[in-house]
Amino acid sequence: MKKIKIALLGAGTVGGGVWDILQTNKENITRNCGYEIEVEKILVKDATKKRKDGIPENLLTSNFEDIIYNDEIEIVVEVMGGIEPAKDYIVKALKQKKHVVTANKALLANHGNEIIKLAEDEGVQLYYEASVAGGIPIIQTLKESLAGNKIEKMMGILNGTTNYILTKMTKEKVDFDAVLKEAQAMGYAEADPTADVEGYDAAHKLTVLSSLAFGTSVKFDEVYREGISKITSIDIDYARELGYVIKLLAIGKEDAGTIEMRVHPTFISQSHPLASVNDSFNAIFIKGNAVGDLMLYGRGAGDLPTGSAVVGDIIAVIKGKDKPPVKAEEDTSTVKIIKPMGET
Ligand code: NAP
Ligand code: HSE
Repeated sequence: MKKIKIALLGAGTVGGGVWDILQTNKENITRNCGYEIEVEKILVKDATKKRKDGIPENLLTSNFEDIIYNDEIEIVVEVMGGIEPAKDYIVKALKQKKHVVTANKALLANHGNEIIKLAEDEGVQLYYEASVAGGIPIIQTLKESLAGNKIEKMMGILNGTTNYILTKMTKEKVDFDAVLKEAQAMGYAEADPTADVEGYDAAHKLTVLSSLAFGTSVKFDEVYREGISKITSIDIDYARELGYVIKLLAIGKEDAGTIEMRVHPTFISQSHPLASVNDSFNAIFIKGNAVGDLMLYGRGAGDLPTGSAVVGDIIAVIKGKDKPPVKAEEDTSTVKIIKPMGET
């Protein structure tokens, strides 16, 4: 059997999930891509820290040079998070003609255009399915399955941590900080959970989705953003009495060349399909001019669901690695982006 060597940058929640899946589903994965995937090195901050069962200590390094100058490594999987040094490492990997898979939505929302262009220029592949909605295959769906549509609207619950908190607050009287700690213990939250609670994470994801859905590069600071830190049990009781639930929604719309993007807590009718998306689950409701209404639902955070998307990307890279990469047309669109307020 042919072998392919990869490196992981990060062995935390997501990196640990990727490692588990590569071991547990080895046979299926090998059958699906025609290669045996071998993890050659894993970059961590502290190579002496105790790891998830099964990660051999000899794979760990805290020196990126062990990866970047190893010519046998063909794919670099960035699951460390943050802007720097993640950006620097991805840029170096692409310039060394290594394919890259990343789960890093903060990086993509702020520097996605530059990184995507660099991958195209270097003739290597860049996949980022895990960056939005954990295990839900939304990126490939927008890039391929729905590519024949004009997307008119997307409305999503894109953050597992805040959905977990709001679900708990809706079902029982709970202390905000205690539930946030639970979400952190389950591996849902970002390193700095302010990113989740204040809506930055959902806004990062909406930026990534909007660029794909509306075919133009949008910027993170063009998204209106408001988090859930001001939501109290009084708001939740009030919503319930009126027949609504409160969800942190990420909404993107295009109408006559104008794009509107916003993230904020929203009253949703209890009968709407998004109202019953609970715990760390995510869902994305899409309206395409050909497909009509469509909803994708699944686990939006956590080690194995997110690892599932990362491993799917690794397999996609392997399957396409010997084909010439497709270069996107330059973005010459003239869409206007408005700072929105108002109805969903
Ligand atoms: P995490 O649990 O905090 O793990 C981060 C890993 O990266 C750790 O192993 C850490 O090393 C390593 N690392 C961090 N900074 C480093 C540096 N400067 N040099 C070397 N290694 C470094 O994070 P995570 O939850 O797995 O998230 C990773 C990425 O996936 C983030 O971009 C996040 O937004 C994204 N993501 C997360 C989820 C989720 O459910 N958690 C879902 C989708 C996407 P040490 O172990 O030595 O500290
Ligand atoms: N912190 C993120 C969330 C992880 O809670 O949804 C998944 O992207």
